Amino acid sequence: MAKQLFIKTFGCQMNEHDTEKIAGVLSELGYSLTDSPDGADMIILNTCSVREKAEYKCYSDLGRLLELKKKNPDLLIGVGGCVAQQEGGKIVKKAPYVDMVFGTDNISDIPKLLEKKVETSKGRVSTERRRKGLTLKTEKVSSLPVLRNHPMMGYVNIVDGCDKFCTFCVVPHTRGRERSREPEEICSEIRGLASAGYKEVSLLGQNVDSYGKDLGNNVDLADLLHMINDISGIKRIRFITSHPADFGDRLIDAMVKLSKVCEHLHLPLQSGSDRVLERMKRNYTYPEYKEKIRKLREAIPDVTITADIITGFPGETEDDFNKTLEALEELQYDSIFAFKYSKRPYTPARLYEEQVPHETGKDRLNRVLEIQNRITLKKNQACIGREFNVLIEGESKRDKGNMTGRTRGTKIVHIPREDDISAGDILTVRITSATLASLKGEVIR
Ligand code: 5AD
Ligand code: SF4
Repeated sequence: MAKQLFIKTFGCQMNEHDTEKIAGVLSELGYSLTDSPDGADMIILNTCSVREKAEYKCYSDLGRLLELKKKNPDLLIGVGGCVAQQEGGKIVKKAPYVDMVFGTDNISDIPKLLEKKVETSKGRVSTERRRKGLTLKTEKVSSLPVLRNHPMMGYVNIVDGCDKFCTFCVVPHTRGRERSREPEEICSEIRGLASAGYKEVSLLGQNVDSYGKDLGNNVDLADLLHMINDISGIKRIRFITSHPADFGDRLIDAMVKLSKVCEHLHLPLQSGSDRVLERMKRNYTYPEYKEKIRKLREAIPDVTITADIITGFPGETEDDFNKTLEALEELQYDSIFAFKYSKRPYTPARLYEEQVPHETGKDRLNRVLEIQNRITLKKNQACIGREFNVLIEGESKRDKGNMTGRTRGTKIVHIPREDDISAGDILTVRITSATLASLKGEVIR
């Protein structure tokens, strides 16, 4: 029987896709995925360290895994992802029963790390050896085997790492410098997805607008979108995440011209105050950001726009914070991800004086969510009576009587299940009701 592998994923889409690669590499070694940690032969935590809470969860989960290891001493435990990259050997010190630690760039080294584990099966792999799984590579991202989790949507890395060094963000320290994949390699992966029946691709990068800068072949994200748009079988193309300093006219033009590129932009604002943006080293002002949104909406009036917001960044005054609230009212996002600032290792902002008290940051986060929830609900309700093109993703998780899909603008839509509707279908749906989280509708035949 195949050995059972359980992977728990924390964090962003990039991590979700890394999990698909970890599963791909391990499936070649005879492992198959299971939904439950109980009875698994190997458990891997694919960790996130973007905020302290996520890192904390990794350690509390490791505590629970010790109990499983006591019951089954042959259980192999691995820690991958950003916490592994950031903490390295410290993980093994805190949790000596961990068998393997590998960073975001070392998924391809898993077989070697496991071999060493087997070699030293009397003891565990030494800390020194385990640390070898943590080198940030500067070479081009390789294409690893991928065991995909979604039946019709494929994640595709286009650029790894980040060179922006925003003063709050640990990502450049965990994922290293920007490295773009060659366009031909990306297109060939997507052609493979298309022939396997995939309908949608999400192009991933911490900063997709930087795509190609390091390749020296004059191909940017807009050019890449043109190439992918020509791949038959693929119906929808998304890209995440854009950076307001780099997002510009060429991309807007590509979004307008290319029929498969979805009308959605995720453009993290972080703060509405220029003083804060400057201290975050974001390289744009609020008026510049607003002007880009204005141009985008002028070109694509129906575009869905989402963003990330941070509250309680060091030095954020009530006045600064009010500018963020005003920005939310002014920009009318479809939805946002909002976070309370969290001190991260290696980042300059952790040393800034004037750290905002926890309670203030939390209170500001609640005020942001209150305003945005009202806007999101209003925007969702404005969809009632309108028709959308919906790609069905499968059965609804909450209600087996429903199927779930997404609009091109990435809004979740539930429709009543019918025998002739299956995952991968693209249907016209009229929206009949809306909540904060999703829309409900009926299929137009
Ligand atoms: N504290 C709070 N939020 C953060 N983010 C990144 N680093 C931090 C931090 N230290 C948020 C940003 C980013 C999103 C992925 O996570 O809003 O856009
Ligand atoms: Fe972090 Fe800034 Fe890079 Fe985004 S652009 S990953 S926030 S450093």
